[in-house]
Amino acid sequence: MTKTVLYIACSLDGKIARLDNSLDWLFAVEGDGDNGYAAFMEDVGAVIMGRKTFDEVLVLSEEYPYPAIDNYVLTRQNGKQSEHATFTNEPLDVLLERISPSIDGKIWLIGGGELIQEALRLQLIDQLELAIAPVVLGSGISLFPEGTLETRFRLTGCRPSGQFIMATYDVLK
Ligand SMILES: NC(=O)c1ccc[n+]([C@@H]2O[C@H](COP(=O)([O-])OP(=O)(O)OC[C@H]3O[C@@H](n4cnc5c(N)ncnc54)[C@H](OP(=O)(O)O)[C@@H]3O)[C@@H](O)[C@H]2O)c1
Repeated sequence: MTKTVLYIACSLDGKIARLDNSLDWLFAVEGDGDNGYAAFMEDVGAVIMGRKTFDEVLVLSEEYPYPAIDNYVLTRQNGKQSEHATFTNEPLDVLLERISPSIDGKIWLIGGGELIQEALRLQLIDQLELAIAPVVLGSGISLFPEGTLETRFRLTGCRPSGQFIMATYDVLK
């Protein structure tokens, strides 16, 4: 099956956004160029994200950032529509099994925390690529919310990128 990669930025205390969803703390961190984003995107064939993350993507971007590939947004609401994405309430494992055969490249699981928790529960993440920002927020939306399945990882790569640490892990299943 197609590889599913969680590629995400977090604070030193494991937050992916402030409680009001803001990412000002992240944008304030000095990186190195695009921190490898373009290279990562080269073989991404589809993205999957939670509805709250999708809403934030729309708020943050003047132009929709992933127009050339399939976009899936998990929601429990009925009847949501967007020109940019397909909304679905399929269980994540069912969705992945259905779309994988037709996807050219890997699947980027964008987040957020709620979707990540579900993906780890179902053991659907193959790889984690983490951009760790040198800031402690103290509160915020967690990368791995309370109650996430205990999961082991194996470090496969680590490099600085400006003030970020870019860490790559395989998920041990
Ligand atoms: N730092 C980063 O790199 C990064 C990356 C990604 C996201 N974020 C941030 O993370 C925040 C959002 O994270 P979050 O944890 O609050 O929310 P989220 O995971 O993005 O979205 C949660 C929503 O997704 C839907 N959902 C989740 N699991 C589902 C399932 N199994 N089946 C059907 N629908 C499901 C539900 O939508 P409905 O309520 O519509 O039913 C739920 O309310 C945003 O602020 C975003 O900017 C940061």
